[in-house]
Amino acid sequence: MSKMNETKLRNLQKIAEQKNVHDSNKHFFICTGPKCFDSETGDRVWKKIKTYLKENNLDQGEVFRSRAKCLRVCAEGPIGVVYPEAKWFCQLNGDNIEGFLKSYFLDKKPEHPLQFCENKSISKK
Ligand code: FES
Repeated sequence: MSKMNETKLRNLQKIAEQKNVHDSNKHFFICTGPKCFDSETGDRVWKKIKTYLKENNLDQGEVFRSRAKCLRVCAEGPIGVVYPEAKWFCQLNGDNIEGFLKSYFLDKKPEHPLQFCENKSISKK
């Protein structure tokens, strides 16, 4: 394996710092389709997530968000997963997404009715 160029490494570290990668308590991945949900609606859900997290100051060190094209479940989407607890959620559509974000990230309620799975080998570490 080749060693990364120092300039490129520092540039990446700067980008990560600007995006609060190292400060975020949680990482929320959301699939916006196309198999588990139509991509057009997925785009609208993604915009709602960005807006909600920003308006509630959850994007500054609390929740780091990432959009995925597939999380390999491919049913009852949009599918989402939150780390480090490794909890999986379904049907995070336009009707449910804001309620989910409020309950899980703002009110910090650990249980949510749309959770369908938890990777216990990860979440118990
Ligand atoms: S397309 Fe969404 S989980 Fe596969």
